[in-house]
Amino acid sequence: MSARAPVTVYVPGDAGAVSLGADAVASELARECRRRELPVRIVRNGSRGLYWLEPLIEVVTAAGRVAYGPVRDSDVMDLLDAGLLDGGPHALLLGDIGNHDWLRSQQRLTAARLGIVDPADIDDYIAHGGYEGLSAALTMPPQDIVRAVTDSGLRGRGGAAFPTGIKWQTVHDQPVAQKYIACNADEGDSGTFSDRMIMEGDPFALIEGMTIAGLAVGATRGYIYLRVEYPHAARALAQALRAAREHGYLGRNLRDSGRDFDITVRLGAGAYICGEETSMLESLEGRRGEVRVRPPLPAIKGLFGQPTVVNNVITLATVPLILARGAAFYRDFGTGKSRGTIPLQLAGNVKRGGLVERAFGLTVNQLVYDYGGGTATGRPVRAVQIGGPLGAYLPESQFDTPLEYEALAARDGLLGHGGVVVFDDSINMARMARYALEFCAIESCGKCTPCRVGSTRGTELIDRMLTRSNGEHAGDLALLDELCDTMANGSLCGLGGLTPFPVRSALKHFREDFGRR
Ligand SMILES: Cc1cc2nc3c(=O)[nH]c(=O)nc-3n(C[C@H](O)[C@H](O)[C@H](O)COP(=O)(O)O)c2cc1C
Ligand code: SF4
Repeated sequence: MSARAPVTVYVPGDAGAVSLGADAVASELARECRRRELPVRIVRNGSRGLYWLEPLIEVVTAAGRVAYGPVRDSDVMDLLDAGLLDGGPHALLLGDIGNHDWLRSQQRLTAARLGIVDPADIDDYIAHGGYEGLSAALTMPPQDIVRAVTDSGLRGRGGAAFPTGIKWQTVHDQPVAQKYIACNADEGDSGTFSDRMIMEGDPFALIEGMTIAGLAVGATRGYIYLRVEYPHAARALAQALRAAREHGYLGRNLRDSGRDFDITVRLGAGAYICGEETSMLESLEGRRGEVRVRPPLPAIKGLFGQPTVVNNVITLATVPLILARGAAFYRDFGTGKSRGTIPLQLAGNVKRGGLVERAFGLTVNQLVYDYGGGTATGRPVRAVQIGGPLGAYLPESQFDTPLEYEALAARDGLLGHGGVVVFDDSINMARMARYALEFCAIESCGKCTPCRVGSTRGTELIDRMLTRSNGEHAGDLALLDELCDTMANGSLCGLGGLTPFPVRSALKHFREDFGRR
């Protein structure tokens, strides 16, 4: 055997990279190094978020980390022949990926450790600034923790953008012994993956954020509601939770503070409506995911009838940084009432898709062209859908819109969870409007009529329009508009209430497609 010390090679275990062959690359690398008697230590890290370069592997050399990508298992022999373990030259060589324009121009705060740390190693997390936020929180009275989050301007990243500090204050103020932290990890929006990336690539950040939330509001138990389609995230969380307990960061008397907090992961069967917070609570309690009538708010009567903080993964994973660096540091990023950064997820028909974390205010143009490089098909971009299946379609004439809550609302859109899906000029927007209504019909929990019945009638209406010629369906267009009004004003929750956004935006900006056979 060679006397050489093992060389560390990072091969992402991220589900996106795995779907592109990362597991095969890892096993081929291990097998071939064994055969050549080259000692290696393969670390399955998260993805850095440059998905068009995945599987992107990194070798730790004396001169720093050297990246190669996209690597297939059939490239491994050739790479080793070229001196992969010394960072040798090869057609797939990318160099220091941290210096790649795509990453260097980002402002990674929440996703700062993604792809850098070993998600299974708590010491690596601590070495990269992990648990500094919790250490600070343990020295603060609960009200001061809540104030720091309020002052940071953090708003919920799950979609509704409600101020996190106000929600925490409400739970903090409830004079009862049992409270809960419920993390919404359902991530049902089309084109979104930032929750998954954090859970797979930096799970301790979420665990730390939930622990701080527990200290702030007086909760001793937390639940992560995870969809069953995320098995890699489930494994990464289970491993990280075990390590956190073993190292005294979870459980009774955590870090000798006299405070208790622990977390349980619950798997949901993967229904879009179970991401709506009250449906999620129903599902967590073991019932069918159906929306609860509000009031009472979950912050007053939530999980098992007790005051509950419901927050998204990104919201909670951002909290440690706010406690570690201070509210003012975080607040300094962003624009208007959209403070801090947002991990945008660029997907669909785009050349360079992936995770772009920037301060609020980046324009759609900058995201789609500067980061995305236009469409993967090379055809002109026709539209983007922002904010998941309930988000509006924006035409290219509105690509100067800054990606922040108020600017998008002013254009009858929403930022949601930060997903941006790109379409080229071959798209028929009437079909996309139909798709939005059909999606709503399939995913509706059925509790209220405007959503349950309206979505089906709307689908039928568009079907009728698509079989007629222009000019023959003026009545149908008016009826569809009226139906959107009924759904927007009469639905009990956002699924029925927001489905009119994509439908109306398609009608407004791409009316010529309605009636196109
Ligand atoms: C139909 C529907 C689906 C939703 N899906 C999700 C989801 O998958 N993940 C999420 O965090 N929030 C989702 N939300 C928003 C939640 O109801 C809630 O606002 C959020 O979890 C609160 O956390 P935040 O304040 O940190 O954003 C959904 C809302 C609606 C109406
Ligand atoms: S809007 Fe749809 S999903 Fe929401 S409560 Fe009504 S039927 Fe259920």
